[in-house]
Amino acid sequence: MSLRLLLSLLATALVALSCSPGGSVTEVASPDESLRIGLSLPDGHPHYSVVAGGDTVVAPSPLGFTFENAPPMDNDFLVTSTRTRTVDTTWTPVWGTDSTVVNHYREMTVGLQEQNDAGRRLTLVFRAYDDGVAFRYRWPERSGLDSLRIASEDTQFRFTDDHTSWWIPDDYDGYEWRYAQTPLSAIDDSASAVSYNSYLEEDADGTPFDSTSKQADPGAVNTPLTLRSPDDDRYIAVHEAALTDYSSMTLQAVPGEPTALESNLVPWPDGLKVKATTPHQTPWRTLQIAERPGALVESHLIENLNEPSKIEDTDWIEPMTYVGIWWGMHIGRYSWGQQDTHGATTERTKRYMDFAAEHDIDAVLVEGWNLGWEDWGEEGAFDFTESYDDFDLEEVTAYGRERGVALMGHHETGGDVPSYEEQMADAYALYDSVGVPAVKTGYAGMIRPEGVHHHGQQMVNHYREVVKLAAQHQISINAHEPVKPTGIRRTWPNMMTREGVRGMEYNAWSEGNPPAHTTVLPFTRMVAGPLDYTPGIFNLTPEEIMPDNRVYTTLAKQLANEIILYSPVQMAADLVENYEDHEATEFLRHLPADWSESHVLQAGIGTHVAIARQQKGTAEWYVGTITNEEARTVDLSLDFLPEGQTYVAHIYEDGPEADYEDAPHAYRIRRGLVSADDTIEADLARSGGQALRLVPATAEDDTQYDALGDE
Ligand code: NOJ
Ligand code: CA
Repeated sequence: MSLRLLLSLLATALVALSCSPGGSVTEVASPDESLRIGLSLPDGHPHYSVVAGGDTVVAPSPLGFTFENAPPMDNDFLVTSTRTRTVDTTWTPVWGTDSTVVNHYREMTVGLQEQNDAGRRLTLVFRAYDDGVAFRYRWPERSGLDSLRIASEDTQFRFTDDHTSWWIPDDYDGYEWRYAQTPLSAIDDSASAVSYNSYLEEDADGTPFDSTSKQADPGAVNTPLTLRSPDDDRYIAVHEAALTDYSSMTLQAVPGEPTALESNLVPWPDGLKVKATTPHQTPWRTLQIAERPGALVESHLIENLNEPSKIEDTDWIEPMTYVGIWWGMHIGRYSWGQQDTHGATTERTKRYMDFAAEHDIDAVLVEGWNLGWEDWGEEGAFDFTESYDDFDLEEVTAYGRERGVALMGHHETGGDVPSYEEQMADAYALYDSVGVPAVKTGYAGMIRPEGVHHHGQQMVNHYREVVKLAAQHQISINAHEPVKPTGIRRTWPNMMTREGVRGMEYNAWSEGNPPAHTTVLPFTRMVAGPLDYTPGIFNLTPEEIMPDNRVYTTLAKQLANEIILYSPVQMAADLVENYEDHEATEFLRHLPADWSESHVLQAGIGTHVAIARQQKGTAEWYVGTITNEEARTVDLSLDFLPEGQTYVAHIYEDGPEADYEDAPHAYRIRRGLVSADDTIEADLARSGGQALRLVPATAEDDTQYDALGDE
């Protein structure tokens, strides 16, 4: 044994002696002392535990790894060093739901070393914020391991209650699932894997989930996993932050332990989970913890756990609203390929650009502009630089430029990543040359080569390379079929939005998204980051689609979802002809894509939610309120408005007869004067909604409108 190791072991023994055997060696508390995360080493095996408000919410849970060619790294450890620090700063996101973010935490970094001959080293970093806790593993430079070949990460989450849980299965290739609501203990029971929503249970047909070509094992879930305590007084979201050069974490039920979960990383084709060299680190394992569900939505923990922007000049990164030649293909009116019904023509793109220019919408997405859609599925099908004959890239971008409307580019890979990687340098250079500011990417279908998963380490690295390449060309990314958001947007703010959700498209060609779906998303998928759900359909029953398919909301709920389902690149998804001459389009004309403040006013996971957001750079406020399949009245206190200022409320809401099944299009617009002392009633139809736009009143408004008063 080296002298150095001997000394460090002696030092550690002194620390350990001061603690009860197997008990908490050391812990760190959040700045407000409400949350604590601690490390203990029973039998030399590191365990962490989490205490919230004096209650143990995660019992001592083992940490460690199994390697392919080395003994496991989970026992025989002693603490060799402990460092703590407090950080209290604020930072300014380039775009977001809030214009400043407080980053205040206490951190504890613990060095561990094996007592055996190998003497390998591992560092654990713990952070306690007021809105959650996090930890990560680090292999230092001299870890005693040259290469990391991780067969499994064995982190457990031993919850102390059988919480109500909202989850999607551990599909390694997509998150496009309906959420199940079950007891935590039922996650390992495949029979529970049906949606909680009775509307869908009817057609669930004994098959837990409806998606095709997906693999999902019963007993395991993707993150974020959201939990509600039995007394409804605590909400927890389990996720990860800063997923970099590592594979995504899913959570698997621990056999025989009804409320315990264990990390299960998405594998490479050969079954290994992570391949890397040291020094290396894992993403943060995160637990957002709050007393009300809305606080999960308001939390910035995931971004705070990421590094500051690596892009110095971020002026070119702009939030935007967009329409697109998109829904038309999903409902079957247009084709992506060049048939008679080809959607992406120069002429139609100009029409969409005219509409966008007239309605203050920033961009037009055009899908199906490039060669290859007829050969989808074949190797090398797509050409990312050659347009179909009836689409002229230079002409449409020049046309848009004259009108102040951007073209949003589109790269559908169909999962053929090798072919995309060959072409992407040219593809981004081309878009750069015609001034395209944002590209929607797509990875629909299984990834080539076979066995590579969307959420595995190889693809995590691919998605990042795309973001970096796009940044070189001052292009922002909207990724579909992505890996989940983990706060990378702080480091790469051109990684603006992504799908990774069962979005609007499912209403066009599947049995659809249930009324409760978007009342669950804010507390589950959105805890991870923005989402390109693509709301805003006005014609909820398009004649082209299968007779049984439709959008299961009212029109007013579509408007409210524009505010609730946050995306810095936000779509109004319908055909422009359904917006032209429609009175409610005035709401889309004003809709901002960037906010300076956001507050959840009312919330019940899966029942209803109301979110107020202030438009960045103005005094205007917007409020979206939605409900599930039940009609309900939600009282909205306007006390977030500044005192002493009168506002004109423009209220877009369900008409008195509205009902998502019988009268989905019934809506009305009311206007009147309000102030911070007022309460507005949102009278929501079944699967209904209300969207508010609150504009500081002018002297003229004071005479034009009546006070809405305390309703
Ligand atoms: C799936 C995406 O989610 C959708 O938005 C897109 O239109 C199609 N793939 C085709 O790229
Ligand atoms: Ca998709």
